[in-house]
Amino acid sequence: MKTPSDFFKPLAIGAPEPIHELPVALERTIHFLPPHIEKMRAKAGQIAKNVDVLLGNLEDAIPVEAKEAARSGFIEVAKAVDFGQTGLWTRVNALNSPWFLDDMTEIVAEVGDKLDVVMIPKVEGPWDIHFVDQLLALLEARHGVRKPILIHAILETAQGVKNVNEIAQASPRMHGMSLGPADLAASRGMKTTRVGGGHPFYGVLADPGEENEARDFYQQDLWHYTVARMVDACLSNGLRAFYGPFGDFQDGAACEAQFRNAFIQGCAGAWTLHPSQIEIAKRVFSPEVDEVLFAKRILEAMPDGTGAVMIDGKMQDDATWKQAKVIVDLAKLVASKDPDRAAAYGF
Ligand code: GLV
Ligand code: MG
Repeated sequence: MKTPSDFFKPLAIGAPEPIHELPVALERTIHFLPPHIEKMRAKAGQIAKNVDVLLGNLEDAIPVEAKEAARSGFIEVAKAVDFGQTGLWTRVNALNSPWFLDDMTEIVAEVGDKLDVVMIPKVEGPWDIHFVDQLLALLEARHGVRKPILIHAILETAQGVKNVNEIAQASPRMHGMSLGPADLAASRGMKTTRVGGGHPFYGVLADPGEENEARDFYQQDLWHYTVARMVDACLSNGLRAFYGPFGDFQDGAACEAQFRNAFIQGCAGAWTLHPSQIEIAKRVFSPEVDEVLFAKRILEAMPDGTGAVMIDGKMQDDATWKQAKVIVDLAKLVASKDPDRAAAYGF
């Protein structure tokens, strides 16, 4: 364990100072772009205007023969597009893959100054983050990158979940984590072939009623435990937590339900793999208008955040003031990017 005074020191001579606090950013949608496809590269500028984060995917779902094309395609997009307020991320290949080293060295060399976050798949423990941290510092120093590139870990192995808190604490570069339900299901030996979402056999049966009366079966959220652990590890360390992919593009309603569970539990956003999921994620990860209006009333009724008041018959105190502040702060962030929601929230 590093001493506190060493924790924030740059890991290479000439690397930028690590950050002490995560910059405020709206990250409802992390949109995955397959950069080896020319048609997708051509659309990147347009897509970037409509999402909070555009991510060039180099890992799973990119065919082996297209790995180099995806990497160079991402670099091309990163150079060509003006991202404005939209975050620019990439998901590189796994640390033990033949592509990881070139992904990192080429991308930082070419577009290190534009890249906000590098997403690292299959993170098992803090040792993986330490390795990437050191490598990034060396590359930043070599290429004169001014702003530290942050690290986002995918939580998608049983061991990673076991070490989730140590991963969150591994470096001041940590941005956050995403749940990777497909790889995690495989790693844990879960019996599902889906990419995220529920499973019809995972649930509870209601108690028996009268004889021969049909018993209701209630499907449960398979990901509740992992999302809760990830949220606690991330939020207690000043990071952000995200739900990852939802693979059934036909089932927008189920995608929305899964995203909403994550949002209510504390996540900041989710991955969007298909254009139809962008509006779902923006809707779900922007607070509900009624919640925002009620939260504003709490803040107004308790200007210094202490004491107790009744609003519509409901008790409010210092703790509900803090809950309200979470919602109003997020609503303000959403409003800064979205004039329609700003008007609905009354900002
Ligand atoms: C994402 O990478 C997943 O494995 O679900
Ligand atoms: Mg995965």
